[in-house]
Amino acid sequence: MTIAAFRNEPFTAFTVEANRQAMEQALKQVASELGRSYPLIINGEKIVTEKQVVSINPGNKDEVIGHLSQADAELAQRAIAVADATFQTWQYVDPEVRAGYLFKAAAVMRRRKFEYSAWLVYEVGKNWGEADADVAEAIDFLEFYGREMIRLSGPQPLTVLEGEDNRLTYIPLGVGVVIPPWNFPLAIMAGMTAAAVVAGNTVVLKPASTSPVIAAKFVELMEEVGLPAGVINFIPGSGAEIGDLIVDHPRTRFVSFTGSRDVGLRINERISRTQPGQIWIKRLIAEMGGKDGIVVDNSAPVEEAATAIVQSAFGFQGQKCSAGSRAIIHADVYDAVVELVIEKTKALTVGTAVENVAIGPVIDQNAYEKILQYVEIGKAEGRLVAGGSIAEGNGYYIQPTVFADVAPRARIMQEEIFGPVLALCKADSFEEAIAIFNDTEYGLTGAVFSAKREHLEYARERMHCGNLYFNRKCTGALVGVHPFGGFNMSGTDSKAGGKDYLLLFTQAKLVSEKY
Ligand code: NAD
Ligand code: ALA
Repeated sequence: MTIAAFRNEPFTAFTVEANRQAMEQALKQVASELGRSYPLIINGEKIVTEKQVVSINPGNKDEVIGHLSQADAELAQRAIAVADATFQTWQYVDPEVRAGYLFKAAAVMRRRKFEYSAWLVYEVGKNWGEADADVAEAIDFLEFYGREMIRLSGPQPLTVLEGEDNRLTYIPLGVGVVIPPWNFPLAIMAGMTAAAVVAGNTVVLKPASTSPVIAAKFVELMEEVGLPAGVINFIPGSGAEIGDLIVDHPRTRFVSFTGSRDVGLRINERISRTQPGQIWIKRLIAEMGGKDGIVVDNSAPVEEAATAIVQSAFGFQGQKCSAGSRAIIHADVYDAVVELVIEKTKALTVGTAVENVAIGPVIDQNAYEKILQYVEIGKAEGRLVAGGSIAEGNGYYIQPTVFADVAPRARIMQEEIFGPVLALCKADSFEEAIAIFNDTEYGLTGAVFSAKREHLEYARERMHCGNLYFNRKCTGALVGVHPFGGFNMSGTDSKAGGKDYLLLFTQAKLVSEKY
């Protein structure tokens, strides 16, 4: 197979009339398909259950996106058993053939890009640009991991020893439980699943309960490109109900989780307990929350810094693990930056994602209530300078909210809110700003705005986060360009979209032959 070098999928310019029309057409098309039912899929068998999870549009609570059959304990057990049986054959499929399924899926997704984006607009409330970036990242993961598996399956460099033929190969682990979040419901879900599968593992995929339809669409796509039955087993279901079972199962070899700190820590504890019949140490890949932020030095261009702060805080309503929910600003430029942040935040329009406004809804009732509680906490901890309440609409709309003069240890500077709430904090020196940035239990993304080389170098060494950006926003990592993952309570730093990622889904085998 001849494969072109990896290139990132370009983002769609919706200012181009043809693209705008294509997106409107896709939104109409998808609107006509809302409300359908989706089965769970085990060994290629489509199973309809009485118990269903209903996915709704968070921006229009009366609109049902789809009904999903839900796995109970018995079906979850069956999914693991099928994945285990299928592993006996799938592990021996030529890595190039396995990669071929990913390349075909990427090609189909690229052709139907607007349609996938439209599903994201309806199901999770992403505006067009955010939805398009999610689809582009999913395509990138498929293309990147396919190429990476081919690279890993080639000869690996070893020191030569005369009289011996030594070869190192990367073999798969076994059954992987894949538990993705809802906030990049296509990209992260597809990336986690594709990485596991291309490496030769079989998967039990439990999608997030608020974004199961887009996951069902991805599973349909993998079926369409001919992925054998049983390689991906799709079991929507409540994390609380079947989560422990699939994590604890003795035939589960690894868990690939992306989600909140608390659920990640729970899984970490559970997989460390050896179950009767279990013959391996389970592996956990856990990417968790963040309390990311932007540091602004007194040498920074204030306009650019304020733009990046607002984009990082409010892109997809602040519901990114990478969201810059804090900004720590040097006292010399504090007032100027705060003023610009207020102005730029007030210019953001809130409305439906279908209408492609800047700020859409947050994901569900729970998130809505939790975020509003943090807004109240913020009112006691800082000076409210923008937003501060709900916004109109038949969905979970909250105004983009900014608090100034927040102390470093305030709750809204420490806890992940995962919504459109930004805390601004003043620092007396650049060094103090870095110390404040580091003073959280998380360590996912960060950014620094400075015109001073020595300050950037100081930050390079001392800012403790997995993805650190200079003079740009702290969101928007690109596959292959910015391998993604965080430190401390942000997870295991798996660096999704990087050259080390697939190693997490394999084990290395050395065969030495004397001749
Ligand atoms: P969540 O932890 O609530 O849910 C994540 C997944 O875990 C879902 O599929 C859910 O159904 C499942 N789950 C819930 N309880 C479970 C249990 N007891 N056992 C097994 N599975 C269970 O997180 P979320 O709300 O979907 O996503 C938001 C969180 O994800 C935020 O904290 C965000 O920062 C984080 N996130 C991190 C990254 C990253 O790369 N670090 C990327 C995206 C999101
Ligand atoms: N990878 C996503 C970003 O960087 C979360 O924003």
